[in-house]
Amino acid sequence: MQRLRRLRASGALRELAAETEANVKKLVYPVFVRCGENVREEVPSMPGVYRYSVDRLKEVADAVFEAGIAGVMLFGIPEEKDERGSGAWAKDGVVPRAVRFLKGYFAEKGRSFLLIADICLCEYTSHGHCGVLTGGCVDNDVSLPLHAKAALAAAEAGADMVAPSSMMDGVVGAVREALDGAGFSSLPVMGYSAKFASAFYGPFRDAAGSAPKSGDRKSYQMDVRNGREALRELAADEAEGADILMVKPALAFLDVVKAARERTLLPLAVYNVSGEYAMVKAAAQAGMLDEERAVSEIIASFFRAGADIVITYHALAYAGWRKQNG
Ligand code: PBG
Repeated sequence: MQRLRRLRASGALRELAAETEANVKKLVYPVFVRCGENVREEVPSMPGVYRYSVDRLKEVADAVFEAGIAGVMLFGIPEEKDERGSGAWAKDGVVPRAVRFLKGYFAEKGRSFLLIADICLCEYTSHGHCGVLTGGCVDNDVSLPLHAKAALAAAEAGADMVAPSSMMDGVVGAVREALDGAGFSSLPVMGYSAKFASAFYGPFRDAAGSAPKSGDRKSYQMDVRNGREALRELAADEAEGADILMVKPALAFLDVVKAARERTLLPLAVYNVSGEYAMVKAAAQAGMLDEERAVSEIIASFFRAGADIVITYHALAYAGWRKQNG
């Protein structure tokens, strides 16, 4: 008789029959770096997530390293913003400074640890858009060389990977070409390939002060209703030379992750974004669900859908639970 329950009878059997294994080594932890000194401030809409000044990064870097997490993805919050987002490509900008600091810190300790630099203009532009405005519209081609310069600034500081996130057409190719031309042909590029115009970025924009001052991002980020178009975006990044592709957000887009997994041979990342994190934290804090179980289930769903890499604000807590409870 068919009895699907046979393999669920004990913990040992369930472990043996488990189809996917969520591995802490496959997680990346996003970190917000800001200007100033001796600052560690909690992001109000993201309990448990902090903005750090460069000099305070050690504490989070140590925690992430000790947890066995693959690395950090760095987001910068500059002192000043301007029309062109010049802080994004300044050689002494907040992300290059953070990269230099962490690179030195880890080298001193003899540790290998990934420093991934997010590359975008929105945290640095006064209008909050991910590219330069021409006549009120986000100008794709004028913005490309600025992304390339930002990637070079991160590379020169010692970043191990760059991740362009603005959804400008051709940005992966522009960044790849600039890196190759400057002697960084070995530096991998992770494309935010299929990035949707999502409500779930709200808390991130609070954290980075990067909400657009007027309009929205729908002229460059994808329409949430489109799955086939997402596959075209992924194929475009692959053709432009991306080393890793990404789908973002994660939870409402697992069909895209699954379809992407079936089509590409490249490593595939998902970004479990700020609003997805905030929902779980709010429900857990209200006593409405068990945070550890909910997060474990969510992370399992990413690997089951076919992701190889998971970028998540839950990474530190999750690694802690795994250490404690297996
Ligand atoms: C920058 C960027 C955003 C996120 C990552 N890179 C914000 C946006 O597109 O508005 C969102 C991450 C998150 O919500 O956790 N372009």
